Amino acid sequence: MSKQEPQIWLIGCKGMLGTELSLLLQKTGLAFTGTDRDVDITNPAALVEFVKSRPFAWIINCAAYTAVDKAEDDIETCRRLNAVGPGNIAACAKSVGARLIHLSTDYVFDGKGIVADGIARPYREDDTAYPVSVYGRTKRDGEIAVLENPRSYIIRTAWLYGKYGPNFVATMLRLMNERTGVKVVNDQQGSPTWAGDLAATIVEIINAESCGRPIPYGVYHYTNQGGITWFEFAREIYAQSRTLGLVKKDCAVNPCTTAEYPTRAPRPAYSVLDKTKIETALGIVIPPWNESLRRYLRAE
Ligand SMILES: NC(=O)c1ccc[n+]([C@@H]2O[C@H](COP(=O)([O-])OP(=O)(O)OC[C@H]3O[C@@H](n4cnc5c(N)ncnc54)[C@H](OP(=O)(O)O)[C@@H]3O)[C@@H](O)[C@H]2O)c1
Repeated sequence: MSKQEPQIWLIGCKGMLGTELSLLLQKTGLAFTGTDRDVDITNPAALVEFVKSRPFAWIINCAAYTAVDKAEDDIETCRRLNAVGPGNIAACAKSVGARLIHLSTDYVFDGKGIVADGIARPYREDDTAYPVSVYGRTKRDGEIAVLENPRSYIIRTAWLYGKYGPNFVATMLRLMNERTGVKVVNDQQGSPTWAGDLAATIVEIINAESCGRPIPYGVYHYTNQGGITWFEFAREIYAQSRTLGLVKKDCAVNPCTTAEYPTRAPRPAYSVLDKTKIETALGIVIPPWNESLRRYLRAE
């Protein structure tokens, strides 16, 4: 390890995004330490104790309460993980002068879209947050707490899928192999995000700093490019998986409405995020959702 390499603390290293990031950091040779439930983010003393003798320049927080429906009845646990925990991490980062990268969500918006001339446009970072679920409210409170550390990056993402956690793509592949048909909601629009692309972007933020071209602190949006419905996503998962032999038999993919499949927590009808800010800051071109899906499925 060279002296220039950043010292990184990856929190939530066993989750879907955390595992993806652990593997990528290992591959890129960036020195890091990963923790998960073994260092409880809801316990400020545990965090302080952990950083005491470790000179972290970066802290990445992938830990969260992500069970959106369960959160409606488990408010206190959700709040401790999504709001109190990030506040503890921010205080800890501030005390040692570390930069903090924290993950947030499209659920901080109400999902009605910002409508101009009758057409919804993608949400920008400075559009007013108006969460309508327990998960969304606690994540928004977590964002506010994280910004107490002036050296913070908040990355809002959405529709995350990857190899190392339960997600929509994995569920669809299972159902398509089990059933003769699936019905998928066609009145909620958003953008899928492959965890591999998001992990690479987080590493880019750290590398940009190491290369002497740091990007400004603040809130950024990151998903894959394109706005589609869950039905359109499922249809493409089916088409690509059939070609690749991951789905071995015919399965009809049909659209339905949200009203036909009520959930405990409300789902945003529109949650496409504008990614111009992060693309400009890092000088990257974000891959389209269907291209990233192909890369993901090919590596399965
Ligand atoms: N998944 C999505 O679709 C999605 C969409 C938008 C935004 N996001 C955001 O993206 C980030 C990563 O999501 P993800 O899906 O990768 O999350 P995840 O798979 O649920 O991982 C979260 C990790 O945090 C751990 N954890 C739980 N309680 C902890 C505690 N007290 N202290 C330390 N670690 C604890 C979890 O352990 P256990 O598994 O044992 O509980 C798990 O390993 C989150 O901030 C999430 O809000 C996710």
